[in-house]
Amino acid sequence: MVQLTGTKKIRCAVFISGTGSNLKSLIQFTKKKKSPISIELIISNNRKAKGLKFGKIFKISNKVFNYKNKTIAEKKIISEIKKKKIKLICLAGFMKILSKDFIKNFKGKILNIHPSLLPKYKGLNTHQRVISNNEKYSGCTVHLVNSRLDSGKIILQKRVKISKFDTAKSLAKKILIQEHILYPKAIIKIFSL
Ligand code: GAR
Repeated sequence: MVQLTGTKKIRCAVFISGTGSNLKSLIQFTKKKKSPISIELIISNNRKAKGLKFGKIFKISNKVFNYKNKTIAEKKIISEIKKKKIKLICLAGFMKILSKDFIKNFKGKILNIHPSLLPKYKGLNTHQRVISNNEKYSGCTVHLVNSRLDSGKIILQKRVKISKFDTAKSLAKKILIQEHILYPKAIIKIFSL
């Protein structure tokens, strides 16, 4: 993994596609002394992503890349990331799949948060599938990204109990609260390994 050198914080980019509540919680985390990271860049594939507002509020530069052509988009992202000397990428509700080449470029340096207890329920629409299968528990996972979808090394997980009244929407809400706690914890963990 990335090495911590002295007291300098690890320069991090957060990738989002939507609301950005995980981004917000990560930004709040970086304000704490114990945070090993600083967020230097927000990247989105969606110019309408609500989370982009946090870039403005917290004065973090953000860039939106048009994903109509993924190869070109990724080339531009890599160049931006290198320019900003980014050493860690945190995917936080980023709904595009990174290419194998991109992942190779940043091997061991990309984290993702997924709203299920991986390896169960990889991919999209997790909460509805969990509810339809009458699961008793779901949760969230922070893992390293490798070339297979939602399959990299698991860093941390949090289990969440499902009540018989839960819907996909209520479960998503419950899990999201845990995600906001889990992501910072996982970041602390990888830098203390
Ligand atoms: C989160 O629940 C995150 O785990 C999920 O999208 C949501 C984004 O919320 N990510 C995925 O499903 C990735 N496959 P946020 O924009 O409020 O952080």
